[in-house]
Amino acid sequence: MKIGVLGSGAMGTGIAQIAATAAYEVIIFDANQTALEKAKQNLQAILLKLSEKGKISAEEMANILGRIYFAKQISDFTDCEMVIEAIIEDLAIKQAVFQDLEKIVGKNCILATNTSSLSIASIAAACQHAERVVGIHFFNPVPLMELVEIIPAVQTAENVTEKALHFVQKVKKKGVLTKDTPGFIVNRVARPYYGEAIRIMEEGIADIATIDWAMTTLGGFRMGPFTLIDFIGSDVNYRVSESVWTQFFYEPRFKPSFSQKRLFEASYFGRKTGRGFYNYAEDAPKLAATQDEDLGNYIKNRILAMLINEAADAVLFQIGTAQDIDLAMTKGVNYPKGLLQWADEIGIAKVVETIDELYNEYREDRYRCSALLRRMAKNGKTFY
Ligand SMILES: NC(=O)c1ccc[n+]([C@@H]2O[C@H](COP(=O)([O-])OP(=O)(O)OC[C@H]3O[C@@H](n4cnc5c(N)ncnc54)[C@H](O)[C@@H]3O)[C@@H](O)[C@H]2O)c1
Repeated sequence: MKIGVLGSGAMGTGIAQIAATAAYEVIIFDANQTALEKAKQNLQAILLKLSEKGKISAEEMANILGRIYFAKQISDFTDCEMVIEAIIEDLAIKQAVFQDLEKIVGKNCILATNTSSLSIASIAAACQHAERVVGIHFFNPVPLMELVEIIPAVQTAENVTEKALHFVQKVKKKGVLTKDTPGFIVNRVARPYYGEAIRIMEEGIADIATIDWAMTTLGGFRMGPFTLIDFIGSDVNYRVSESVWTQFFYEPRFKPSFSQKRLFEASYFGRKTGRGFYNYAEDAPKLAATQDEDLGNYIKNRILAMLINEAADAVLFQIGTAQDIDLAMTKGVNYPKGLLQWADEIGIAKVVETIDELYNEYREDRYRCSALLRRMAKNGKTFY
């Protein structure tokens, strides 16, 4: 089976690597030949490293590279059975590219998009055969992240979704099925990890180092929210926050913060620019966390309750099953535990109490408890 990969940036390169590793013939194309050349060099270097480490043999390395063809024109996609698009995140450009693709590929070719924030329905709508369009959302870096979200649009044919799931299995990833709603599962459910942390900081309840300490040391998360935002980059993270909020018809739970917007405007993106929430200059004073357990537990419980609330709401609106949502958050963003599993362990009634306390204090819709949690607490139910 031949797979076309459109766009040879960070995502396209990773997708080409895993598909070729899974024995697919891969054709990769980029509008920018320099980017394509760079992708070729990157792939060679990555595979060489894997073979030097003994993860693959020299023969396998040669075979994998031999299965990737770097196309000079998009028309080389003619006999692909599936094309995965990973170009710039711009609806008009993606729609135009999908229209071009339809003129090239056969009528049974599946057209998949790796979009993080656009609706699959809106991309499919540009096509003559919208039923062949599906979202296959990989995570960065593709070879390392086990999760893939599969997103059928309202137009997508059932067998197209099945084939997408099959492909994901073949490339040895865990596929979760999700609805075509903003942020899908991961980028929706994760919002409070950033948003509530920033809110706590903005109110002066704790500083960024203390919040990061609470979430890593007491919460068991790999990176604290501010370290993580700086790692992702506020250019990406702020844009996602704003996009999820606007696409949710300005839902208050997702409202972005001014502190992050100002960092974004100042191009203080984080590690890559030397400054974000933290200052990465060598001579910058190092921030020390106030390691107060009571304060730390307050921060951890508050952010965790907000995350659980979001996960529960995603179950309520059937964005994914409880199992898939837990899988998505543990495999897509490395959470130490599935949020709904965590909710069961804390006790649903206790989680509801924490959220209600916040609501009673602030009287903001941001802190409204999910009807599902309230219902479950009333009936003594658990997720598992
Ligand atoms: N980077 C991430 O963390 C991440 C994670 C999941 C999904 N995504 C999504 O994957 C897609 C690609 O992201 P990326 O980070 O790899 O971007 P990137 O900027 O690294 O690469 C995009 C590539 O697409 C090429 N391109 C642009 N327009 C094109 C066109 N019309 N035809 C062919 N090639 C074109 C560019 O030259 C560039 O090489 C986006 O939709 C993004 O939202 C990104």
